[in-house]
Order: sequence, then structure tokens, then C-alpha cells
Amino acid sequence: MSLRERIATPDGKRRFVRAIFATIADRYDFITAFLSYGQDRRWKRRLIDLAAPRAGARALDLATGTGDIAFALAARGARVVGLDITLRMIELARRKGAAQPMVSFLVGDMLALPFPPGSFDIVTTGYGLRNVPNLATAIDEIQRVLSPGGQLLSLDFNRPSNRAVRSAYLAYLTVVGAALGWMLHRDPDTYRYIPASIRQYPGAAAVAGMFEARGFTGVRWYPVLGGLMTIHHATRT
Ligand SMILES: C[S@@+](CC[C@H](N)C(=O)[O-])C[C@H]1O[C@@H](n2cnc3c(N)ncnc32)[C@H](O)[C@@H]1O
Repeated sequence: MSLRERIATPDGKRRFVRAIFATIADRYDFITAFLSYGQDRRWKRRLIDLAAPRAGARALDLATGTGDIAFALAARGARVVGLDITLRMIELARRKGAAQPMVSFLVGDMLALPFPPGSFDIVTTGYGLRNVPNLATAIDEIQRVLSPGGQLLSLDFNRPSNRAVRSAYLAYLTVVGAALGWMLHRDPDTYRYIPASIRQYPGAAAVAGMFEARGFTGVRWYPVLGGLMTIHHATRT
């Protein structure tokens, strides 16, 4: 079965995503720095600057991975929960944050958040929304756990609307991803998943429209890397 077929259904994508992030967790930080040419930290800093958390703000970082965004929010004085579906990611995040009293981590699914309505002032996610099998459900869950006036910030790859740009970008990611997947895991699909998931993704403008349709206002999106990536910023009504 091709990669595209494997992630074509919500259930197939859920299984595939769980398997690959468990596989790559121990190399995740290296891979992220490598594939972004070291720019990822800068993009995440920009997201944190936009969030501008006040001291004591209640923040939730979804698909937290090894916790970069969670730690950065805590460094600005927020009280942060980092949530991820991959146990190994959470183990690595906990190890990095052993001496950080403002951050806690838990294993969980961002499609069924274990928090009551209105629990957070800020919800962030880095490369999270593109990976869920049901984007609308993820946005509804974020909306539910945010308090009125709370902020949502999401950093992710974009799906360029220009067909030529999109083809070149996806071809580049496919070649680099396949080579890296083969070198590190003897499986080219491991990182070919990135362009495959971008193909499925509606793109920044459509995602902004989904936020608006699901109870968010003041929705803005900021192009990153010439529009190949995006930071979304929205406020819960
Ligand atoms: C590309 S990593 C991003 C990690 C981190 N946010 C960052 O910016 O570096 C995507 C993460 O999403 C997590 N993930 C995928 N599906 C999820 C879900 N349904 N609920 C929570 N986390 C999920 C994966 O386990 C993985 O750690």
C-alpha cells in the first residue's frame, strides 16, 4: 500500500502518525534542526512573541513533542501543560524539564482533551494540526478548553496555493525526506510523510477559515519562510 493510501483515512493516518513519531522521537530534535536549517527555533520564538504570555497565564502546548514551545512559554512566566500522544516524546520532554516547576507533561490525544471547558488562556501547537486525522475536531477541542478571549497559536507547514511553487516544494521535501528516512531508519516513508501530509492539508487560508467558522475571531496568519510555513493567531470569542 502506498504512503498516500495509508494516510487516506482517519484511522489509517492515526495509526501511521503514532508509529512514525514513536520511531523518530529520540532523533526528533536533531531532525527538526536539520530539516529547517536551524530556523525552527527562530520560528518558535516568533510564535511565543505573538502569544506574549502574562506571568501566571495558563498555557497548553499541544503535540508538544520534546517540549520546545512549552519550555519557552514557561520561560516567559506561563504555567504550562505539554500534551502529546507519543509516550517517548513525553519521556524526553520530562527529562529535559526535570528542573522546571512551571511545566508538566502528559500523554494524551488532542482530539479528546482531558480538561474541562475554559481551562487555558493560551493554546499553542507546533506542527500539530497537520498531523491529526480530523482537523475540525482538533479545532473544536481547542475552542472548548480555551477561556473566552483566550489565544490560539499554531506553527505549521503551509500548502502553497501556487501550483508551480507547491510542486517544487513538495518534490524537494520528498527527495530530502526519502534520503533521510533511508539513512536513519531504512524507511523512506518516515520523512516522506511530511510532503504527503502537506498534500492532504487544506492550506493556511482554509485553516484560517476553519478557525473563524468554529468560534475564533481576529484570525491572522503570518507567512514564514516566504509562505512555505505559517503561524496562525486567533482569539476565542
Ligand atoms: C512534528 S512533532 C511536533 C513537536 C513539537 N510541537 C515541535 O514543535 O517541535 C508532531 C507531534 O505531534 C504528536 N501528535 C500527533 N498526533 C497527535 C494527537 N492526536 N494528539 C497529540 N499529539 C499528537 C506527535 O506525537 C509528535 O510529537
